[in-house]
Amino acid sequence: MTEELKTKLTQIEKTYTEKIHQTASLKNLQDLQVAALGRKGELTELLKNLKDLPLEDKKTFGPLSNALKTKLTTAFEQKQTELETAAVNEELNKTNLDLTLPAYTFDKGARHPLSIAQKRMTTILSRLGFVWSEGPLIEDNYHNFDALNIPKHHPARDVQDTFFIKNAKEDKFVLRTHTSGVQIRAMEKQKPPIRLIAPGRVYRKDDIDATHSPVFNQIEGLYIDKNVSLADLKRDLSVFMQGLFGQKAAVRFRPSFFPFTEPSVEVDVKCVFCEGKDAGCPVCKGTGWKEMLGAGIVHPNVLKNCGIDPQIYSGYAFGMGVERLAMFTLDIKDIRAFYENDVRILEQF
Ligand code: DAH
Repeated sequence: MTEELKTKLTQIEKTYTEKIHQTASLKNLQDLQVAALGRKGELTELLKNLKDLPLEDKKTFGPLSNALKTKLTTAFEQKQTELETAAVNEELNKTNLDLTLPAYTFDKGARHPLSIAQKRMTTILSRLGFVWSEGPLIEDNYHNFDALNIPKHHPARDVQDTFFIKNAKEDKFVLRTHTSGVQIRAMEKQKPPIRLIAPGRVYRKDDIDATHSPVFNQIEGLYIDKNVSLADLKRDLSVFMQGLFGQKAAVRFRPSFFPFTEPSVEVDVKCVFCEGKDAGCPVCKGTGWKEMLGAGIVHPNVLKNCGIDPQIYSGYAFGMGVERLAMFTLDIKDIRAFYENDVRILEQF
C-alpha cells in the first residue's frame, strides 16, 4: 500500500511537471490543472483517500502530498504568467508599437493669474465684511450712467468710449463701462447698512496696447451707513493694501473728480518695489507712489436716486482695476499677457 502510494505520488509529480513544461497553450494548461488539482483531479482524489490510511502512513503521506500540491500549484501559476507574457509580447510584435518611446505627458491646468489676483483681493475684502454682489454685463443707461449722476454730456457716454447696444426703439443698453452700476442695483433693493464688493468684467472702446484692453476687470466697493467718512475709507483701504502688499504698504489720497462721489480721491499705494527710495525705479518712476484706484464719498444725488436719505446716511465707494493691481503685484509689464494665454507666461504663476 505505502509503496503503491509513493509510486503514485512520484508519478503524479513527474507527469504533471513534464506536461506543464511542454504545454504551449493557456487552455491546455487549464485542463491540466483541473486534471491534477480540480475537484476530481488525480492529486485531489489521492488526498481524499489519505483519511483511510493507518496513522503512521498518514504522518508520512500527509505532508508529502500537501507539499506536492503546493509545488504543482506554484508550477501552474508560473507557467500561466509565462504564457500570458508570451501572448502579450506576440501581440505587440505584430504591431508597430515602440514601447521605448516616452509616454505622453498630461499637463495639469492651474488658476489664471487674473483669477488668482481677484481671489486674493476679494478674500481680503470679505474678511473686512464686504459681501460679494453681482450685476448684469449688459446694463441699461440708467444704472450705468444716470443714476450715478453722470450727466448726458459726460465723455464716458460718447460712442467713441462705450459699446452701446441698439434696441429696436432706442439706444437704451450698454456693455457696462464700470462695475459702479452694481451699487445702484444694491441700494435700490437693500436698506443700509450696506457693505458690498462687486467684482466683474467691464467694457470700453479702447485700443489694445500695453496698458489698455477693451475688456478688463474691476472690483467695486460700497459702504453705506450712518456717519461714514473718508476716514473709514482710508482705514479700510489701508488694511486692504496691507493685506495685499504687506504691513509696510501705505496709502495716500489725492483730490480727484468722479460724478458719483463728492469729494473724490485717487488712491496711491507706496511703491512696494523701491519703497520710495529709488529715484530711478521703473515701477513708480521715482515718485515712490503708484496710482491704484478711484474712490470717494457717495454723492448725495446718487443716494437720493436710490431712495436713501442723504441727511441720515452717508457712504464711501471705490473702484479698482484687477489687471492694474495684478500687474503691480506680479510685476507684469504688459496687460496683454493676461489675455493671450501663452502657456509659457501663465505657467509662471
Ligand atoms: N467707476 C470708476 C471707473 O470705472 C471707478 C470708481 C471710482 C468707482 C470712484 C467708484 C468710485 O465707486 O467711488 O473708473
